[in-house]
Amino acid sequence: MTVSDALPDIIHHLPPDHHGRNLRADVRAGLTGSPKTLPPKWFYDKNGSDLFEQITKLPEYYPTRAEREVLTNHAESIAAAGPAETLIELGSGSSRKTPLLLNALKKAGPLRRYVAVDVSDGALLEARDELSSAFPDLDLQAVAADFETQLHLVPHKGPTLVAFLGGTIGNMEPEARARFLQNVRDLLLPTGGSLLLGTGLITPPHVLIPAYDDAAGVTADFNRNVLRVLNTELGADFDVEAFEHAAVWNPEQEWIEMRLRATRPMLVHLPGINLDVWFQEGEELRTEISAKFRTSGIIAELEAAQLKTIGQWADEQNQYALTLAEVD
Ligand code: SAH
Ligand code: AVI
Repeated sequence: MTVSDALPDIIHHLPPDHHGRNLRADVRAGLTGSPKTLPPKWFYDKNGSDLFEQITKLPEYYPTRAEREVLTNHAESIAAAGPAETLIELGSGSSRKTPLLLNALKKAGPLRRYVAVDVSDGALLEARDELSSAFPDLDLQAVAADFETQLHLVPHKGPTLVAFLGGTIGNMEPEARARFLQNVRDLLLPTGGSLLLGTGLITPPHVLIPAYDDAAGVTADFNRNVLRVLNTELGADFDVEAFEHAAVWNPEQEWIEMRLRATRPMLVHLPGINLDVWFQEGEELRTEISAKFRTSGIIAELEAAQLKTIGQWADEQNQYALTLAEVD
């Protein structure tokens, strides 16, 4: 038996054609709307997940380092305030920062299992392989599911800590965030427990913009990857290099917008959804928002979902916060 035979399989909560049906519906709605948009969920095929990992190591992309700093300094306080039998991590990706939390939770009490939830099978498998050797006593579960629509299917037992790290909540619009937080509360109600929420804080434009428009062009490549996904999955013929990357701060909404700008007029065919789409020269397709927060605003959004803040920690430079909230 090989080592990986002994490891738990990914639990699939996504029905067989969920991915395809969802992608088709999202792309049709997004590319026929005005302005054109695409949801950020579709960045993360294998290449997209790898590119995101590269982004986390860029000198300009501070959120990952800032979050690691907060966890390094405060994981023990967090675990003491929110001890848990089950740790569920949503949008867990590579789970690189998770060991800081797992170690602290083990010290604080009865941690038994770690449930990683992501839409990316590849990321789940890699994380499972790494964590199983570092935490042989832990029951590891890798769940392929959509955290926006399938939280009710995530298995858990006993007091539970839900961790949502990386600032990924900022990739949702305010109404979607409110719905999501309600769903987290519903998930936690039967067992009791808390939510650990990672959020980017508002930073000055000279810090923020380069984090989303780095000198090496990795973020630009990550952004364009969504077009490659559409080419592969829908047989589309996007000339990927004919779109340039733009990162724009929206001061009213307090979010960064990633856009892809057509550098010439183009007619794109998407046979997978039987759609042809015109792009004017200079037309922009919005591919992601990344909202940045004020600490008081985070507490208010949690409160609106009946999640009561019991602790909040930030890095030295106030670029990133972790907020712990329990069901009220
Ligand atoms: N938490 C990690 C990864 C952040 S990248 C970190 O802090 O570094 C965002 C992750 O969320 C990706 O792994 C992506 O596949 C996942 N993701 C995005 N939308 C999702 C959705 N709707 N449901 C589940 N996972 C999602
Ligand atoms: C996953 N998410 C929190 C990242 C962010 O910062 O919004 C995705 C990303 N987009 C561009 N760079 C990184």
